[in-house]
Amino acid sequence: MSLPSFSRVPAPPDAILGLTEAFKADPRPNKISLAAGVFVDEAGRTPVLETVIEAERRLAAAAGTKLYRPIDGEQAYRDLVRDLVLGAGHEAVTSGRAVATQTPGGTGGLRVAADFLRQTGSGVTLWMSEPTWPNHPQMFAAAGFRVRTYPYTDETGRRIDEAAMLGALSDAAPGDVVLLHGACHNPTGVDPSPELWRRIGDLIAERGLLPLVDLAYQGFGDGLAEDAAGLMELVRPGAELLVSTSFSKTFSLYAERVGALIVIARDAAAAASAQSHVKIAIRVNYSNPPAHGADIVRTILADADLRARWEVELAAMRNRIKSNRAALVAALESRSIPGDWSGIATQRGMFALLGLSAAQVARLKDEFAVYVVGRGRINVAGLTAANLDPFADAVAAVIKG
Ligand code: LMR
Repeated sequence: MSLPSFSRVPAPPDAILGLTEAFKADPRPNKISLAAGVFVDEAGRTPVLETVIEAERRLAAAAGTKLYRPIDGEQAYRDLVRDLVLGAGHEAVTSGRAVATQTPGGTGGLRVAADFLRQTGSGVTLWMSEPTWPNHPQMFAAAGFRVRTYPYTDETGRRIDEAAMLGALSDAAPGDVVLLHGACHNPTGVDPSPELWRRIGDLIAERGLLPLVDLAYQGFGDGLAEDAAGLMELVRPGAELLVSTSFSKTFSLYAERVGALIVIARDAAAAASAQSHVKIAIRVNYSNPPAHGADIVRTILADADLRARWEVELAAMRNRIKSNRAALVAALESRSIPGDWSGIATQRGMFALLGLSAAQVARLKDEFAVYVVGRGRINVAGLTAANLDPFADAVAAVIKG
């Protein structure tokens, strides 16, 4: 017997992490990566947060065990994460109809959601924004969904085309799943207004759609509660939805793979039943979750002092991204690069989309050793005083031709 013949044809590198691999292998000393969404400080490092170091110190001092964790994670972690997203006093929480599950990062949360939906027979068609995170289409296709897209931004790439978005979603059939970015849309950085979230919520309710909200950047936009406000517009009395959240960015725990899937069902009994299926989706995949990242997040969120300090660290990351946005706009405008770049300053989250052609992106990499994703998605959190000017020079060169 032999491996399938298709396995002898190399697969294309990953649209984001493949660039990180290529960047690492690039011998040019002046190389710049704004590809993967990773926060760096002014020195270009991704430090471990002070609160994470303190939590690890406390965990190391406690007599631990490496026993298996519950399939869906420790209850304390699950409750803290649910409350972080929804708020402890929200009706969906107090009624018991919102149940969180620990997952390996936000990617793990999305895949568990996908498997849960397919294995319970709900949702064959899933709608996602165009553009979206490059892993979304392949992940949901791999889980067996028929993937459809709804337009997101207008031709400027800086504003949501509300009519086109809602028009496309009006074609969705009852039971279809609608994937939404909870905040800090990846790759555009453009989020719905509160009014548009209301209209999305109305349309979802009218057409009987099931929202799946990808909330990987809660706190990187305007704040913890502010960044959950849009999705809370969907948490209407009796409404059902799924939320996948991640602590890769907001706790800078990229390598620990820690996040959660929250199922919000019509009542507590429906939530408990759904949870039993979520556990099967996990058991047949990775069995039960890794412990360390969740222990860190639990330790921080459960301790009022550590939590307050973490929120200060989170705000510092958020504010650095905001000042990077302003500096980027100034750098692009000062080079008189054709285009209106001002919107980048008011976008949210780690990413901005420059709207480059494939040829321009290739030139950035080949001629200037500058790595960006797709049509010019850049990790704004990766800009520093050292790389901003060379980056803006390279963009000016490829746009001006
Ligand atoms: C990104 O979009 O760059 C991040 O979410 C990292 C990843 O896993 O792709």
